Amino acid sequence: MPSTDQADRFQRLTVQAAGRTWTLERPADLESLWQSLDEDDPEAEEHIPYWVELWPATLALCDWLARQDLAGRTCLDLGCGLGLSALVASGLGARVVGMDYERDALYFAARNARLNAVPQPLWLCMDWNRPGFAPRSFDHIWGGDIFYEQRFFEPLERLLLHSLAPGGRVWLGDPERTVSQAVWPRFARRGWRVANRGQVVVPFEGARMTVNVWELSRPDVT
Ligand SMILES: C[S@@+](CC[C@H](N)C(=O)[O-])C[C@H]1O[C@@H](n2cnc3c(N)ncnc32)[C@H](O)[C@@H]1O
Repeated sequence: MPSTDQADRFQRLTVQAAGRTWTLERPADLESLWQSLDEDDPEAEEHIPYWVELWPATLALCDWLARQDLAGRTCLDLGCGLGLSALVASGLGARVVGMDYERDALYFAARNARLNAVPQPLWLCMDWNRPGFAPRSFDHIWGGDIFYEQRFFEPLERLLLHSLAPGGRVWLGDPERTVSQAVWPRFARRGWRVANRGQVVVPFEGARMTVNVWELSRPDVT
């Protein structure tokens, strides 16, 4: 966890999302943080600090969230990183849990809630391979760019099946990664209703990235 005298060295990002300007703090950029990882640590591969980047998928997701009626809804942001999509929903009156397995991500997400003057979501340090939620506890579950490894599908689908309330909706921002393309037909084969809720092109690192917002629901869970 960074100490308070480091705070003036944090980077500040300014982003437009969901109709307003957001300021987000982070300790450094992805490349610098990645280079500082201990290569001999067998856990390093599992903990590449992707949380420190603000991914275009989340910007599209935030715009989608801003068009939903989230007031009073129980919501879960999976792999929340710097917290932006949790902050957007919290600002709209949702009861949000922002979850990530990186403690530092949650430290910055909480700072970012204060910086942007939105109600603090509940920040939860949890691994989606070992979730601890009560069954059917969330009206909405979302995640920005969380299907970047094939091995994430099974634990994430298990979590969604367990934690989504009857009639609930899942929203996933996805930047058309090669690895994620198979995810949507796979959900459909497992009995999920899958709908594409829109495609946007987002500028990212000097290029443009196409991002889709996917919606999943379970017609058979009542
Ligand atoms: C590509 S980043 C996306 C961050 C954020 N949603 C965004 O779009 O800006 C993926 C996030 O998932 C988190 N993550 C990866 N594996 C996880 C796991 N097993 N349990 C919980 N969070 C995980 C990472 O720490 C990271 O914050």
